[in-house]
Amino acid sequence: MPLALPHLTTAHGLTRTTILELFQSAEEYYTRLRIGTKRFDVLQGISVVLAFFENSTRTRMSFEIAAKRLSAEITGFQASASSVNKGETLLDTIRNIEAMHVDVLVMRHSSSGAHEFLRRHAGCRIVNAGDGQHEHPTQALLDAFTLTRKFGHLEGLKYCLVGDILHSRVARSNIPIFKALGAEVAVCAPGTLLPKDIASFGVKTFSDIDTAVAWADAMNVLRIQFERQDQGLIPTIREYTEWFGVKDHHLRLKPNIAILHPGPINRGIELEAIVADAAQSLILPQVEHGVAIRMAVLTALANDIRATRH
Ligand code: CP
Repeated sequence: MPLALPHLTTAHGLTRTTILELFQSAEEYYTRLRIGTKRFDVLQGISVVLAFFENSTRTRMSFEIAAKRLSAEITGFQASASSVNKGETLLDTIRNIEAMHVDVLVMRHSSSGAHEFLRRHAGCRIVNAGDGQHEHPTQALLDAFTLTRKFGHLEGLKYCLVGDILHSRVARSNIPIFKALGAEVAVCAPGTLLPKDIASFGVKTFSDIDTAVAWADAMNVLRIQFERQDQGLIPTIREYTEWFGVKDHHLRLKPNIAILHPGPINRGIELEAIVADAAQSLILPQVEHGVAIRMAVLTALANDIRATRH
């Protein structure tokens, strides 16, 4: 039976088996894309709306490219040019989109939990492309896929997320996915950029970058989310960089370490520019893998749509 997913709103609850099936599907798409295949008919007759209420470069484009490669009917929804600006609620907006017989809604929204709300109240399939500080499941899947392709598997891998964990939806989706795949997970951040309930996440914590780098096989470097900070959580950017930035000398100490970053990068703040461009950096492979992972996710949704239509 091919993998069928009704929605993808959260990384929590995705089993190791489901994740590995998604990776197998993504690997097949990755290989076919690499040899130049541009079209698959998997989403023929399925309509996909891309609704981004927050800015995005990578996620929006890769979902659009993934849906196009799979032959979906795609509609882009520009929140900034919509009636949301006239006060229409999210649920009313989505119900109007549904009334046009949309099958799949890929949405990014600034409200944590917006997708879970819609999953309960809307009739179409919901894919979370990032909700506030809550989750970003396809980013976590592509991060784990990238490191699985590099290391073969994640069992026992020492994996450290470094940076603004407090505001990071990437961290909140990475932790359950990497743990499901058997990785040892840690976070490294100043205490003010850790969630208050970090103890319940079941991860190691580091409070200085040198110790974290010495421990880790792979680091996922997160940016400081200036747009979500309303108080002085770090004394100065310069001090943050000094204590928590990943630098060239870390790569010289640990030449086999793998460096991830979900983007967008603040060069010279959370990592030195030379680190972003180093041989250890998998930042652009992450972006390439993002298309294959999103094709795998959309395929699993299409399988469920077809199964429930018959
Ligand atoms: N990684 C990520 O979500 O990037 P975008 O904000 O550009 O989509």
